[in-house]
Parts: sequence; structure tokens; C-alpha cells
Amino acid sequence: MTGRVALLTGGGDCPGLNAVIRAVTRRSLDRGAEVLGVREGWRGLVEGRFMSLGPREISGILPRGGTIVGTSRTNPYTSEDGVERVLANFASERLDALVAIGGEDTLGVASRLFAEHDFPVVGVPKTIDNDLSGTDYTFGFDTAVFIATEAIDRLHTTAESHNRVMVVEVMGRHTGWIAVMSGIAGGADVILIPEQPLTVEACCDEIRRRHARGKDFSIVVVSEGYELTYESGERQTVAQEARASDQFGHVRLGGVGDALAGEIEERTGYETRVTVLGHVQRGGTPTPHDRVLATRFGLKAADLVEQGQWGTMAALRGDSIVSVPLREAVAELKTVPPEWYDVARAFFG
Ligand code: F6P
Repeated sequence: MTGRVALLTGGGDCPGLNAVIRAVTRRSLDRGAEVLGVREGWRGLVEGRFMSLGPREISGILPRGGTIVGTSRTNPYTSEDGVERVLANFASERLDALVAIGGEDTLGVASRLFAEHDFPVVGVPKTIDNDLSGTDYTFGFDTAVFIATEAIDRLHTTAESHNRVMVVEVMGRHTGWIAVMSGIAGGADVILIPEQPLTVEACCDEIRRRHARGKDFSIVVVSEGYELTYESGERQTVAQEARASDQFGHVRLGGVGDALAGEIEERTGYETRVTVLGHVQRGGTPTPHDRVLATRFGLKAADLVEQGQWGTMAALRGDSIVSVPLREAVAELKTVPPEWYDVARAFFG
């Protein structure tokens, strides 16, 4: 490919984005292509904002968190002429290909543009949530799990000193991948996730059981998308409702940790504190694992561009990097399978 290749990063930022940008750019430049970064996700294509990517721009970015081209949660399909402007700006910049690096929202737009307009796009699966189908893992997830695990380790020692219950709220949106993996790695005593809604009563029972065994402290990991669930069958989503949903229709989650901590303290009488990890899980340098995965995804995406494999996404299957149709990746959320939760559950209480 000796043409003009653009890349964009969309949705929440994620450790490893710059490693992908570096790999796509490096391989495309080596093949004689020109490379452009689209500023701030789909917004940059709607508004026609680009930056040139050359050896200087990608130098030293491999270990850097965030994204050098910026990101946004812009959805061209929600503004009246958004898609027309994307197509017009793509044509007027004389672009030949787009590499879209994102999660279900960003890649959902890419998939639709390909299906409806034969748009020359390939995808790279990004998200700390690891909730994209079509790939075993997304890059950024390992870093988030590493950060959450370290936090749980630290909370253990202070929980033990004070005989407290520590509730740790982690991200993950509507799946519990970060909670389950960091909870297993950190030795959590109870883990609450959207896919396996243990009741508040059962959670308290596990903590009491643990205390009856002589342990005066407990660590409870809760995924932000867990609904407070009661034996009565009542379920309650906790979200920051004050802020309206974004252009992809997502409500801003957060706050379930606080609500759960209140319930635990009231029902068990044990002193309980809450820690919300929030965006700490997304910031900073990627782990070596994520740097390598992101690099492999980026090289694969550049190869898919070279081969004109439009409408596909780089994906991890076992230990191999393969390509899958974009529509497969965005068809449904990849939830935590019961067998993973069983591993976690073996250590409850
Ligand atoms: O999808 C990644 C993610 O970090 C989710 O885990 C979280 O719910 C959401 O993004 C937070 O989004 P924002 O950065 O817009 O607050």
C-alpha cells in the first residue's frame, strides 16, 4: 500500500493505544504509505481534523499511556449529517484506508460504515473492559487488572490492621471481567459482577462466615455494573443519573460500591469502607503484556490494510493474531463465563 492511511482512537482511552499507533504507523511507513492521525476519534472525521504521523511523532510513545491523537465518544450516526461529513472529509483528504482502534461503540460505527458505504476500514479491539466478542482479549485489560490487583493488595493490609470490610469498586461497564480477574489475583473474599448477581444478603453471609472462621477483615470487589440484588427479587441499578447518557446511549455508571458498603455495614455491623478505583485503571503506562498485544494488533491491522481486507478486525485467538469480521466483534457483549466465576467463588467467605 503506497497510499494514504488514517487511524483514529475512539471511546475511553486505554493503556496500549500509543503502542498500536506506533505499530500501524511504522509498518505502513515502511511500505511507503503516508499516515495520518484523525484527531479525537470520529469527531475528527466529522470535523476534518488530522495530524501527520511520521517517525518523529511515534518516537518514544510505546510506554506512554493515553493516545497521542486524542479520543472522544462522538457518534457520527447521532448527528444529522455526521456520516456524510465523515465520507466527505475522508474523500477530500484523499485517504485510502482507515484503521479504527476502539471498543464496541467505535467499531460499531466502523462496521456500519463498511456495511452501508463499503468504507475501507479495519478495526483493532481496545478496551479495559475486555467485553468485545471475536477476540479472546483486548489490549488495556491486562493493565487495568494489574492496577486493580495492586490496589486490592494494598487494601488488604489496611483492612487487616483495622478489622474492616473494604469494598473496592472497579470499572467494566456491563461485564465483570476486571472484577473477576483482579478479585482472583488479589484474593477477594466476595466478588459481585453483573453476570452472576449474588444477592446482598448472600454477600453479607459470606462475610459473616469468614468472620466466624476467625478472620476479622474482608475484601469485597464489586463491578460498577452490578445491580444491587436482593433475596426479594428487587434489583437496583446504581448510576450517576445526574449526567445524561453519552452519544452511544450509555448511562455513566459508578456509585454501587458506596451503596453496597452501606448495606454491608448496616446488615453485619462490621465497619466498612469503600474505595472507587475509577479512571486510575485507565491511566498510565501499559503492562509489557499489553504493549506486546497492542503491537501485534497494530501490525496485523496494517497488514489487513495492505491486503484490502475491509470490514475485518485484528483479534487474538489462543496465541495467534487472526482477523475476524467486524460485525462479529460488535454483535454482542462478551460476558464472563460461569466457569471463570466458579474459580473466584471457590475462595469466597
Ligand atoms: O469502557 C471503558 C470505561 O472505562 C468503562 O469501564 C467505564 O464505565 C467508562 O469507560 C467510563 O467512561 P468515562 O471515561 O466517559 O467516564
